[in-house]
Amino acid sequence: MLNFTSFILCSFVVLGLYGSPANSQEGPGSICLLKDAPHQCGAFCLSALGSLYDQMADFETKMHSQQESLSKVESTLVSSKGTLDKINTQTEGLQNLKQLTEGLKKLENVLTNKEERITSQMEDLKINFDARLDRMQDQVKAGSNKLEEPKAVTSLKAIPPKFELIGSRYFYIEENNPQNWTTASKTCREMSGHLASFKNKDELDAFRNRLNQYKNYWIGINDHKKKGDFVSLASAKPAFLNWEPNEPYYFEAEQNCIFLGVCSSGELCMLLNPCTIPLNFICQADDEI
Ligand SMILES: *[C@@H]1O[C@H](CO)[C@@H](O)[C@H](O)[C@H]1NC(C)=O
Repeated sequence: MLNFTSFILCSFVVLGLYGSPANSQEGPGSICLLKDAPHQCGAFCLSALGSLYDQMADFETKMHSQQESLSKVESTLVSSKGTLDKINTQTEGLQNLKQLTEGLKKLENVLTNKEERITSQMEDLKINFDARLDRMQDQVKAGSNKLEEPKAVTSLKAIPPKFELIGSRYFYIEENNPQNWTTASKTCREMSGHLASFKNKDELDAFRNRLNQYKNYWIGINDHKKKGDFVSLASAKPAFLNWEPNEPYYFEAEQNCIFLGVCSSGELCMLLNPCTIPLNFICQADDEI
């Protein structure tokens, strides 16, 4: 009877030790208080406690191994932290890389803009250069045209022998070899000139003191092409005329040639005559007039 009572008491102790928190909160009534354990428990109680001790030792061992595992986990965590730090560092590196990439992109944009600007500037320069080149070529062309132009200078340069400057042009006066108008014009051509015409009154007046006032001189003015239409033989341009007061007077049908003589006023005048009459003559070096 005593043993049975002890067993129940001890069962309560065991239940108290292993009980759930709900059981332990059931109140003081469920707690077994041992006042004299050796006598109250007996051998059964001790053997029950021994297995309890074994279980506790086992539990301790398990705890120990759990602690080891925990410290392992801790160290793993530490090393993981290191890795994380490394990753963080790498992330920072990545962020730096990102910034660098963005910087490079900006630089690329700037370079692209610059390149575009330079390209357009070069195009402008090329257009400008082409325009200048065109202008220069035009100028060179104009220059070469100018070089071809001055015929007057050339003819003045090649002044035929025996021609002399009277006024502003070169003339030859034949004083001693009277010829009809046709032959006289041929003679002038053979001397590299033409039967003469005159620019104006001043040029005509310059001959006043050069000519024999008792002789007449064939000049190149004629109306062979159209009667009354007096032109220069050298240039075919309308001629400067200074008629004797009664001229032009056609006393013969075939009068197409003009000669120069001194009229009553004392000036040099122009008279119409048949071309067949032999007279002295005047040649000019150029064919401008
Ligand atoms: C001009 O004179 C030349 C030579 O003297 C002569 O052969 C010719 O027929 C003459 N011509 C005229 C139109 O008088």
